[in-house]
Amino acid sequence: MLRIGMLTSGGDCQALNAAMRGVVKSIFSKRDDVEIYGFKDGYKGLIYSNFDMLTSRDFSGILTRGGTILGTSRQPFKLMTVPDKDGLDKVAAMKHTYHKLSLDCLVILGGNGTHKTANLLRENGLNIVTLPKTIDNDLYGTDMTFGFQSAVDIATDTIDRIHTTATSHSRVFIVEIMGHKVGHVALHAGIAGGADIILIPEIPYDIDVIADIIEKRAKEGKAFTILAVAEGAISKEDAKLKKKEYKEKLAKKEHPSISYELAHQLEKKTSREVRITVPGHTQRGGTPCPYDRVFSTRVGAKAAELILKGQYGYMVGMKNGETIKVPLEEVAGKLKYVDPEGSLVKEARRVGISFGDK
Ligand code: F6P
Repeated sequence: MLRIGMLTSGGDCQALNAAMRGVVKSIFSKRDDVEIYGFKDGYKGLIYSNFDMLTSRDFSGILTRGGTILGTSRQPFKLMTVPDKDGLDKVAAMKHTYHKLSLDCLVILGGNGTHKTANLLRENGLNIVTLPKTIDNDLYGTDMTFGFQSAVDIATDTIDRIHTTATSHSRVFIVEIMGHKVGHVALHAGIAGGADIILIPEIPYDIDVIADIIEKRAKEGKAFTILAVAEGAISKEDAKLKKKEYKEKLAKKEHPSISYELAHQLEKKTSREVRITVPGHTQRGGTPCPYDRVFSTRVGAKAAELILKGQYGYMVGMKNGETIKVPLEEVAGKLKYVDPEGSLVKEARRVGISFGDK
């Protein structure tokens, strides 16, 4: 008997179900003697032994379904080693659940925080295989994460729709795009949507440079300007602050997000109307795009191959179009940033996109 535990952890995204389907279908194509334990709401289900026994049928018809059939929750890594309110040792509890059910392995789908805990469980002797999930595409060790391309599609669609109204009204528009501390989604959606200015955390901006671009465009007869702004975008002054100082500044901030601060500053500097659109969690919602369906199916099938060979302690990822396995200790705790000197940024600059820095 092969006993597989499965959980999805952290923020959801498109193609989580498609990835799990890929794992389960591939396993059952080789073996019948398989039990699947689906833990509810991420690591919480593993800690408190809350699971459903699932059959291959549970994974049918879910290729196109957004969200996760297992549910998910955020369980910060730094709290994993802190006992819960009843004094329960969470790591010991997860190990206990794993051994009590005689699991052969755990398949964990998640992003950065999830991978730190997955690696901790590996260090504690559990057999782990992980899959790279996040719209942010910031997981180290893989070119791609599922959810990313779907989120880029949605953010691009938002910019496309803003284009028509921005031109009619001759307004400045800010579209705030998710991505946590990195700018991959904003960069791709900004280019795809024809944004005039893209602001990402990896390239700190100068507000005066942005104001000048808006004025220059207006003088040239382009009365509207569209900014694709990553939620983590940061000014040059703020980028100089120490991490602690910046956190303190953020805590005192009068604006709900960076876009509101920018809008306030730009209205003062340019005397133009500035509007803000925040697609927010719609970027994580709905059906996965075809790319994500294919990608998640591929990494799911590759994870099944590792499980059937008894190769554990890896995240399945993608490099140069090929599925690969990356040791968890190489992935955990690192972020994959946009390279400010990389070809994508250079090519974007070449077509006249500004990053608000010069
Ligand atoms: O990591 C995915 C993500 O959507 C980020 O882009 C965003 O910063 C964060 O999750 C939002 O988290 P929550 O869903 O907990 O509000």
